[in-house]
Amino acid sequence: MRMSSNPQPAPAAAVRSWLQLNTPITDWQGRRVWLVGASTGIGLACAQALRAAGAQVVVSARNAQGVQDWAAQDVGVQWHALDVGEPLQVQATARAILAQGPLDLVVYAAGYYQAQRATAMDIDNLLQHDKVNYQGALQVIHAVLPSMLARQSGHISLLSSVAGWRGLPNGLAYGPTKAALTHLAETLYLDLQDQGIGVSVVNPGFVATPLTAQNQFTMPALISPEQAAREMLQGWAQGQFDIHFPKRFTLWLKLLRLLPYRLYFPLVRKFTGL
Ligand SMILES: NC(=O)c1ccc[n+]([C@@H]2O[C@H](COP(=O)([O-])OP(=O)(O)OC[C@H]3O[C@@H](n4cnc5c(N)ncnc54)[C@H](OP(=O)(O)O)[C@@H]3O)[C@@H](O)[C@H]2O)c1
Repeated sequence: MRMSSNPQPAPAAAVRSWLQLNTPITDWQGRRVWLVGASTGIGLACAQALRAAGAQVVVSARNAQGVQDWAAQDVGVQWHALDVGEPLQVQATARAILAQGPLDLVVYAAGYYQAQRATAMDIDNLLQHDKVNYQGALQVIHAVLPSMLARQSGHISLLSSVAGWRGLPNGLAYGPTKAALTHLAETLYLDLQDQGIGVSVVNPGFVATPLTAQNQFTMPALISPEQAAREMLQGWAQGQFDIHFPKRFTLWLKLLRLLPYRLYFPLVRKFTGL
């Protein structure tokens, strides 16, 4: 019997290579990462995981909290206070960070969530979601993209949410901003793929952070920020575009995404009781 010199990849390897849409990032040693919205939760856990893997991390948000102490003890960690709702601040911060060297990865993790329904519409709160979750991402991308384009390298990763995949009760303010982020990531990918710049969108299910602490219901398949960070590093290592987790939850939601509205609406009502 002749042995093939080029054996078929095992199914898991075949799936991985099918999902590989970006240049994989496996070695973080010496890489420089800016995480925007990383004073708590997923962003902070991700900054800590990247630092542990050898990256130089620059952390931004409005409140320094634990990050300033961490930055004081570790030269590989820098803190730059930033409100993403202030475009001039975003530009100045990006300029200061880029003046010290190029960025290999920019993670947009800034997020704001308050449950809102159309029966009690609050326009100011709705627009605040848009400012933090969507417009802030635009400002950050606008500030870092010219440098990435000039070097033909870098990667932009946007923290979106499964809550943006389809309309959900209580998601009036939050959901549309996440749908917009995912759409933005898809379009960025198409525009930047041949410019040497990677783009990914991160779609977590429920993660135990200050953002979800307000939820009054039992969150299905809840994971820790550290688990979320591990999933993100694995997604970047595999060159994925759509980094979604935990799969035991997100794969069901992917199926729901395919349903016609006639079935989707009553099913969501039944599951949420809303
Ligand atoms: N937790 C989940 O289950 C879940 C699920 C799907 C998606 N996500 C997304 O994951 C991302 C991280 O959320 P998280 O769950 O880790 O919540 P979190 O702990 O509340 O983190 C949100 C981060 O955004 C920062 N932020 C808020 N407003 C900002 C502003 N104006 N300027 C700069 N930074 C600002 C916060 O820092 P400061 O308040 O110090 O500014 C904080 O560091 C968000 O985009 C969220 O929508 C979370």
